[in-house]
Amino acid sequence: MPSAQAHEISAASRLDNVRYAIRDLACVADEVVKQGHKVLPLNVGDPLNFDFQTPPHIIEAVYKAMRDGKNGYAPSDGVPQALEAIRAEAGRKGITTVRDVFVTSGVSETVDLCLSALVNPGENVLTPSPDYPLYSAVLCKLGIGLNTYDLNEDDAWQPELADIERKLTPRTRGIVLINPNNPTGSLCTRQMLEQIAEVARRRHLIVFSDEIYDKLILDGTPHIAFASVAPDVPCVTFGGMSKNYLVPGWRIGWGIVSGDDAAVKTYTEGVHRLLRARLCANHPEQYAIKAALEGPQDHLLEVQGKLRSRRDLTQKWCEATPRVSCVAPRGAFYAYPRIEIPESDETFVKELIRQKHVMVVHGSGFGQKAGTKHFRIVFLPDEKTLSKAYAAIADFLRER
Ligand SMILES: Cc1ncc(COP(=O)(O)O)c(C=O)c1O
Repeated sequence: MPSAQAHEISAASRLDNVRYAIRDLACVADEVVKQGHKVLPLNVGDPLNFDFQTPPHIIEAVYKAMRDGKNGYAPSDGVPQALEAIRAEAGRKGITTVRDVFVTSGVSETVDLCLSALVNPGENVLTPSPDYPLYSAVLCKLGIGLNTYDLNEDDAWQPELADIERKLTPRTRGIVLINPNNPTGSLCTRQMLEQIAEVARRRHLIVFSDEIYDKLILDGTPHIAFASVAPDVPCVTFGGMSKNYLVPGWRIGWGIVSGDDAAVKTYTEGVHRLLRARLCANHPEQYAIKAALEGPQDHLLEVQGKLRSRRDLTQKWCEATPRVSCVAPRGAFYAYPRIEIPESDETFVKELIRQKHVMVVHGSGFGQKAGTKHFRIVFLPDEKTLSKAYAAIADFLRER
């Protein structure tokens, strides 16, 4: 029987700061769709929403696994065939001191497990600003105060080493690197990776290097894995299938632990305790890992070709549009233009959805230096759709 006086069940207060701007904007878009408009979605990094197709041979591998009865629970760390393929991939990335590998339900779960296994109350982890918002969300969920270091827009969004040094405290346990970066599309230079390794060595930190976009490099330069330049430094390299292999819905990611064996042993055991507690990652999908990493890579050429042309179009538009400027993205499929506007970038983005039906994400949803304003573009749509969206944004800017 419904009670006359419902007692509200409150959510934990540590969730107060949990935000995920990329999806939080959906309610504003829903209003616009209800009014009968079509929204141009330049907000979510899902290639499958556009003209990109999953390579058929990896779909076959999962289908075969399902038909072969791989439908029960998998081992907690992952099926042996997948673990072996990830170790081989680590070798191709130049990581020579692999101590452990494990499979997760997307890099999202790797982030959650690796942060949860590391930090105690009162400790902190350095995260980039701007960052992919899941890092801040997981730390908030764990009740850990944020400690962010700036990426320097004037230096092609390289981590600002002096800021990292400034933000280190005696209770700092690790540093997060996102390379290629979401939301800026930037790549870390070798020199920067070496300098960060030096800080980690000196302060006995672990580095979490999120390299989920490592095969989506747009300017022909090879991607440099952090762990390949710092084989001794404790590191977990995050990788996955969502972006490189065009299957974000399968939820397959992994972690590669490297560094001095004695330094990472206890931490790795902690990660495995959490891996066992959540049983396993999706089982049949794990059989696509070997097929993806070791099978034909032809789709990558096509994906990179499309992304390069869409990046160039985006960059040209940014350069030609008053009050917009942008560091050219070099990897992934995001651009992070800076805008000169009177209002907040959140208001700008919400009004852009309402008035022009174009959806981008405000810079404040990722973090940015005080006084600067940005928005993130996902340049996955085809050139015609992008041109239409950019014309609408330019009109909107002119009208304000
Ligand atoms: C930098 C970064 N890390 C992790 C993720 C999450 O990836 P997954 O789909 O593997 O959970 C994303 C998704 O957009 C991302 O951009």
